[in-house]
Amino acid sequence: MEASKPRIGIIGTGYVGLVSGSCFANLGFQVTCLDIIPEKVERINKADPPIYEKGLKDLLEKVVLQDKLLHATLDRKEAIDNADIIFICLPTPSGADGSINLDFIKNEAIEIGKLLGEVDEYKVIVVKSTVVPGTTSGIVRQLLEEQSGKTAGQDFGLAMNPEFLMEGLAISNFTNPDRVVIGSVDQQSYDFVKRLYSEFNCPILKTSTSAAEMIKYASNSFLATKISFINEIANVCEMLDIDVGEVAEGVGLDDRISPRFLRAGVGFGGSCFPKDVKALYSVSKAVNRESNILKATLATNASQPLRSVELLASLMPLTGKTIALLGLAFKPDTDDMREAPSVIIAEKLIQEGAKVKGYDPIAKETAEIALPQIQHCHSVPEVLEGSDAVILVTEWDEFKNLQPIDLSSVSQKIIIDGRRALNWKEFREAGFIIKVLGQSVP
Ligand code: UGA
Repeated sequence: MEASKPRIGIIGTGYVGLVSGSCFANLGFQVTCLDIIPEKVERINKADPPIYEKGLKDLLEKVVLQDKLLHATLDRKEAIDNADIIFICLPTPSGADGSINLDFIKNEAIEIGKLLGEVDEYKVIVVKSTVVPGTTSGIVRQLLEEQSGKTAGQDFGLAMNPEFLMEGLAISNFTNPDRVVIGSVDQQSYDFVKRLYSEFNCPILKTSTSAAEMIKYASNSFLATKISFINEIANVCEMLDIDVGEVAEGVGLDDRISPRFLRAGVGFGGSCFPKDVKALYSVSKAVNRESNILKATLATNASQPLRSVELLASLMPLTGKTIALLGLAFKPDTDDMREAPSVIIAEKLIQEGAKVKGYDPIAKETAEIALPQIQHCHSVPEVLEGSDAVILVTEWDEFKNLQPIDLSSVSQKIIIDGRRALNWKEFREAGFIIKVLGQSVP
């Protein structure tokens, strides 16, 4: 290792922590990852990723086994002692009222603070978790200072460095970011963190810690709002005999808008958009500036998965029927079932008296936990066997090229394409009734 390279500690090996740690190690930094779950630590040290993320296994094999630059531990002291810059990458789940629960972050700040009090070297603590504006300079700073007896911006550094990693694309997003945002309490903390990104060819933005926190929320909320917006346009298009795909293409060609995040469908899910929009909405209310836009974004997204069930119910009674769900994960290329639209769709179908079967190419174990009430299948033919109709929920590549012949066992030849992924013309020509979200109802 080059002497000048800061050593990195990563607290929490969820997908943000583990991907960031692995990518930093791949850039030549020595990385120590801390987790409290022994099985995770063991698996990481064997280069066996505890989460599914494209490319992560190969990367871990390189940085753990070959380069020996990444090591996981259960020992917090070891992680802190062996690091100059410590990233907090812990979950910030939604509380019952939509505001975020900071318990993990607060407990960690207490533990790190105690250890900081015992060392002489200068270290920088960086919050990478998504936290509401004011958290880093407020409660995190306060707990670190109380427990260590030291002063942030003087005896130790403190910064906020949000992540913009999409699951499934996290490694390439980390390596080729649009921007890096570093919010810091002082210049020295900023300079330290910036050294980690010296090889990156993108703008590096220096902000306050609160602005960095807000940038993360505003970015996710804007993208989520873009999706709800196109979904509302899609719902109007359906009534006016217009295909929203053509509309999104025309709108997206405007440079100021961009075509990305304009795919209409069953709505957004995952561990970030729903939670972050709720949290920012909650913040807006707490400061007496209730956001009407965020409220509408959430309301539209709550009803959007149900559109697919409504469309199906308009074609056949659901009681006693067997419905096959193609795709269960909240999006392709991940096994993540958090806030997946498939859960809302399956629950509604069951409520209407239908039996539900589901198949996802990757989300199997996670889907069995999130959806114990449906029958889980291991292939497309198995899920279609004995089904009366199909709803395509997640646009996996495996489904995009399905031909009418592949769906010949669907007894009523009815398909709802919730992600606009199938070649609907071919299916219609082959005698299927196929309804596509955001398309004219023929
Ligand atoms: C999102 C952001 O895109 C990342 O920048 C951010 O770092 C991350 O959250 C986070 O906060 O950690 P992610 O949740 O992995 O990433 O997923 P996206 O690819 O953004 O998709 C979110 C949801 O929106 C999915 O359910 C997807 O199917 C849906 N979506 C996306 C649409 O319905 N239409 C679109 O056009 C795009």
